[in-house]
Amino acid sequence: MVGQDQVSILSPDDRHRIDAEHARLEQFMQDLRDTCVNFLTGTDCFGCTRAQVATCQGRLTSFFYDFLDLISEHFENEEAIMRHALLDSDEDEYFRLHQEAHARLLREVRELMRQAAVFSAQGNPSEAIRRLESKISEMFGHHAHHFDAPFLGPLHPH
Ligand SMILES: [Fe+2]
Repeated sequence: MVGQDQVSILSPDDRHRIDAEHARLEQFMQDLRDTCVNFLTGTDCFGCTRAQVATCQGRLTSFFYDFLDLISEHFENEEAIMRHALLDSDEDEYFRLHQEAHARLLREVRELMRQAAVFSAQGNPSEAIRRLESKISEMFGHHAHHFDAPFLGPLHPH
């Protein structure tokens, strides 16, 4: 895994950029939670008006596109910063595994969105939002702990 030497090579600007992007990801997740008034109670959409359900379905669809754009750009930036900071990224096993983890996350997020779109189309965006939020939080939490933290040091809480 990456050593302390590499951590210190990360410039303050790069560090700031990565932290800002991670904070933006967290804000997206918060906005997703805020989309549904029933998010915390766990009730479904049948107590909401049709107009409200349609609004939530629309917001969820926008989230799919915006979140995918955001994470693909973030992964590219993070990889560029790592490539720059590591002495020899081509030979670095941690870098290779981290890149693979990003590609896998993108595939998994796309699949989760496909499943969420089905729930949403069935008139229950609330269930779609809850499932999506919990899976993405779990996957990204795991990634931050196992891949980002060894390179970045302890992640700044947002
Ligand atoms: Fe990462």
